[in-house]
Amino acid sequence: MQTVSTAAELTAAIDEERDLPGCAGLKVAFVPTMGALHDGHLSLVRQAREYADLVVVSIFVNPLQFGAGEDFDKYPRTLEADAAVLEAAGADVLFAPTVDVVYPDGVEAANAAAAARPALQSGAVGKTFEGAARPGHFDGMLTVVARLFELVNPDFAVFGAKDAQQLFLIKRMAATEFPDLHIIEAPIVRETSGLAMSSRNRYLDAAALEVAGQLSKALNVGKAAAETLGAKPSLAVNAARARLEGVPEAKLDYLALVDPSSFELIDDSFTGRALMLIAAVVGNTRLIDNLTIDFQEPFA
Ligand code: PAJ
Repeated sequence: MQTVSTAAELTAAIDEERDLPGCAGLKVAFVPTMGALHDGHLSLVRQAREYADLVVVSIFVNPLQFGAGEDFDKYPRTLEADAAVLEAAGADVLFAPTVDVVYPDGVEAANAAAAARPALQSGAVGKTFEGAARPGHFDGMLTVVARLFELVNPDFAVFGAKDAQQLFLIKRMAATEFPDLHIIEAPIVRETSGLAMSSRNRYLDAAALEVAGQLSKALNVGKAAAETLGAKPSLAVNAARARLEGVPEAKLDYLALVDPSSFELIDDSFTGRALMLIAAVVGNTRLIDNLTIDFQEPFA
């Protein structure tokens, strides 16, 4: 695996592979991350391998997607350990740029340039759920993802279903800005407790991990209510919420059902596949998770 940090090195590393005999049509798959890698990230790398000949992973903690008072400064940075696990997982190129490589004209200029590109705006969906709690987060996220796509120029890009709203917005942005790029969705990787893996789980001590494990259990209660007891959406949400009533240490922000094709709330007439979203704060750590739930037509 080659580790590179500038745009020129990145292009050279990709072209070097492309120039090998018989590699002219080589396909590139890209996995963008912020590092502090865990098995969820590595599952994306393995998935990328299945689609392409060359796997590029980026590690960049993007200042534009962190709000004031968020954890940008303390976000775990573990580049050496990350490089070792990426190498073992079969990544070919690790792109670990500095802020000035990603935003050569500065962060303010990048923000202004993105504001002038409507496709990089997260719009109404970007102001709900995670976007309501983290103003500006999704615009900053789309800005960096588009910039990284421009730098890497991949054929495939792999994202985790864990960040469902992020994935929805990236797919929408890529459809117009990068029409030849295939966006691949990878399933959520969980701890044995059911807790969705996250770099932020490092902030949790043993007691907090126990509490955090209850979030996925609540989602599963909602799913069982709908899929085995035939509960309608509102009742499935109530069942999931009830599961968390005995867990006051998890400060629930939202628990809701959306239509994955629009990311809008569904009502009780909805049938088909919905997404149950949850966000809660445990200690000082904001955690998110989601689960698909199938709502059947009621029996006549
Ligand atoms: P980060 O949180 O590092 O996540 C990188 C990728 O890993 C995302 O696609 C995310 O959905 C995926 N991922 C995280 N936890 C996962 C899990 N438990 N199972 C499966 N996939 C998981 O998301 C970001 O970084 C940033 O917003 C980024 C897209 C890199 C832009 O800065």
